[in-house]
Amino acid sequence: MDQQTMTNEENYAFDLTGYLHVPGALTRPEVARLNEAIDRAGSLEGMLGWEGDLREPFRDVLIHPQLVWYLNQIVGPGFRLDREPTILCDETCDTSAPLTGGNEPRDPALAYYHQNGRRFCEGVRVIWALSDVKAGDSGFVMLPCSHKSNVETPADILTGVDDADYLFRPELKAGDLLIVGLTVVQGMRAWQGEGPQRLLSYEYVGRGVMRSAGPGPESKEMPVPDWMAEMQPEQRASLYRPGYWDTTPPPTLKTDGERVTLDASRELFHPSIFVKNPNSDIDEKEFYFWDLNGYLVLRGVMDEAWLAEANAAIDKFENRIVVGEELARGSKALAGTGRPLLNGLTQLPNPYCDPFRRMLGHPAVEHRLNWMGGSGGRTGGGTAFCAVKGTSGHSLHDSNEPLNPTRGYVYHNGRSYCEAITVTWQLRDVAEADGGFACVPGSHKAYYPLPAGVRSCDDHMGLAKHVAMKAGDVLFFMDGGTTHGTLAWQSEISRRGILHKYSSRNFNRSGGELTHPKTRWGDLVAGMTDAQMTVMRGPDRDVFDKNVPRLTVANGAVGVSYERGSALYSKDAPTEPVAKQ
Ligand SMILES: [Fe+2]
Repeated sequence: MDQQTMTNEENYAFDLTGYLHVPGALTRPEVARLNEAIDRAGSLEGMLGWEGDLREPFRDVLIHPQLVWYLNQIVGPGFRLDREPTILCDETCDTSAPLTGGNEPRDPALAYYHQNGRRFCEGVRVIWALSDVKAGDSGFVMLPCSHKSNVETPADILTGVDDADYLFRPELKAGDLLIVGLTVVQGMRAWQGEGPQRLLSYEYVGRGVMRSAGPGPESKEMPVPDWMAEMQPEQRASLYRPGYWDTTPPPTLKTDGERVTLDASRELFHPSIFVKNPNSDIDEKEFYFWDLNGYLVLRGVMDEAWLAEANAAIDKFENRIVVGEELARGSKALAGTGRPLLNGLTQLPNPYCDPFRRMLGHPAVEHRLNWMGGSGGRTGGGTAFCAVKGTSGHSLHDSNEPLNPTRGYVYHNGRSYCEAITVTWQLRDVAEADGGFACVPGSHKAYYPLPAGVRSCDDHMGLAKHVAMKAGDVLFFMDGGTTHGTLAWQSEISRRGILHKYSSRNFNRSGGELTHPKTRWGDLVAGMTDAQMTVMRGPDRDVFDKNVPRLTVANGAVGVSYERGSALYSKDAPTEPVAKQ
């Protein structure tokens, strides 16, 4: 709080996941004072109005300086308390109730907004932990990143029938502060802890948000002047004033273009031009997971015989494995030796190429590639990643920030547009202790730069996730959208992951001979200046701004820069002037 604004780490973590955990925001005496008040009152509700000095601690934390400092930045100045605070516990909550929240359909009054560096999370739950919550205690649960979900939350996840891959149970210490966006999917599950369960929860909203009516007697009923009382109920419907019990939620006028009817349920009526397509052959839970996390695992695609064939082929050509660069990039957590790779699997002599050729055009995999990024993707063939014990990790890289359209992810009107997808076939089990693939779920929608501690995994704030898999599983990840990399390999048994990198039909990702103007155009470019030649290149590996020859302007003059930004500069692109003048 000493600094002027939240750190990039805090912005990044909240932007990505929809929650922020602030350890030790309350001192021990402050926590004790709140607990004593609850004990003395012998009640779990109405804290702000309790008798005498019992209410004071709850009024103090209502505007706790650290909280105000955060909410000014997260919700925006002028944020308000929406409803009376509650104590979240088994006695006050229905722990069998479906989770609430989610961003599809969008609730503009509570949603997360971010544009050009300005953020408004219009609704947040603020939880003050008054007792510890240990791993597995349950209680308050949530689905990180779901404040940006584009896909409706499948019912099985909300009801708990199938929530194991999603549910996050935050561990807290007494005195911790947890700020959670209200469109993050969240709820209460039965308490499994041994100690008392005490989470003090306040819900705040943006200054203009219409959500709850106040408890005061004046709020009960909207005064209706005589002139309004004479009107038809349908005509009166839109003359309501906000904040009264009988106008919260507001009246609903249902329409079909011909008639208007006042709907007694008051449920939102908001027609769409789209209907779900039950014949899309897309598994909605898969789509939800993909959109939420930026990766997906298909289980058991390869059978035992196929796995045996593929593993035998790699055993046979083990001597062709080349140990490449160490890729930890200075990370302590990921340090180790160079990365062993076996290339050219689809070109191995017969019959050793067969198990790898079967990975191309595979029905289950190709179907996912089609809905994830559209048809027409291409790959260079498989590469085996064969890390041995001590092989370094690969520091985490790529993200939605800075935006890179050629490798990014966009969801639009029911379609996933992912321009770069890597498919990894697992030939061996990968347990958490082994190392291997890791990513930052939700980072394909990040709006803040990747913090150094997340990149190195040395201080990733719990945001980096190792993905455990079994032999035969197939992993898809957004290679460019989702922040990803590798943890150092710890197992005595070497890694066997076969990577196929797919680029969409829309962008080149690998250079190629036709990037050179002369190869592409032949004699047509003869006599052109270098600046002209620069715009005559073929589709190139346009990863970031320093990866292709490019025009510059200085003092009103156009020049060409061939400066290389990284090793990814396409080898066929001109690296120096090509016109001889
Ligand atoms: Fe990568």
